[in-house]
Amino acid sequence: MEFDELLQARRSVHEYSDETIEDSTLESIFEAATLAPSGYNLQPWEFLALRDDDRKSTLREVAYGQDHVVEADTAIVVLGHTDPMAHAEPVFDDWLAKGYLPNEEVRDGLVESVEDMAAMPESDRQTWATRSTALAAMTLMYAARDRGISSCPMEGFDSDALVESFDIPDEYEPVMLITLGYAADGTGDVENDRKKRRSVDQVVHYGEFDPGRETYAAADD
Ligand SMILES: Cc1cc2nc3c(=O)[nH]c(=O)nc-3n(C[C@H](O)[C@H](O)[C@H](O)COP(=O)(O)O)c2cc1C
Repeated sequence: MEFDELLQARRSVHEYSDETIEDSTLESIFEAATLAPSGYNLQPWEFLALRDDDRKSTLREVAYGQDHVVEADTAIVVLGHTDPMAHAEPVFDDWLAKGYLPNEEVRDGLVESVEDMAAMPESDRQTWATRSTALAAMTLMYAARDRGISSCPMEGFDSDALVESFDIPDEYEPVMLITLGYAADGTGDVENDRKKRRSVDQVVHYGEFDPGRETYAAADD
């Protein structure tokens, strides 16, 4: 599918058919997600994929009863590792080996920079992990759409309950949930009217930031 077509086609889908996603297809979607960019290429994302009904039902409980979590073939808990140092050494070793860095001193300097980031307050580290992880989540949803699979990103969940229910270690931040599945007949992507978007005029500021100039409502008039 052409990328513009993909962009136009994607919708958040809530109703799914019983059709199963092939393991290899799911794997290829995750593979695509790992190609997302990340700060320093530190790739803080991890994905907990839930496919059996019991586990998905547990997730529905922490997702305020949202049924599409269970109806979808796969429900994914998207997690961000909040310790920037978690993968720093092998990442910079790769840069060095591929000639992105001139020498070991520069590599060590980068590790030190990331060590400084790792000393940031927890809330800053959560923000740091969320930035890159959200890009991986979006990449995953477009990769799914490209394979005819619908998705829905979700922030409607109780983070503390999720951490407890799925034994998520402290250093991981639950960033969002994503449901994945083949849409039920008549409910998929392009079949739903596109929800209105704010216009380019309202969201793009050339040169100077002038946020108060127009509102969503004004553009509707
Ligand atoms: C960060 C985020 C959180 C969302 N949370 C939920 C959610 O908890 N439940 C849900 O059904 N949809 C959720 N959505 C889907 C939005 O409602 C949807 O993206 C929006 O209405 C635009 O529709 P579209 O995705 O079909 O273009 C979320 C979307 C995003 C990006």
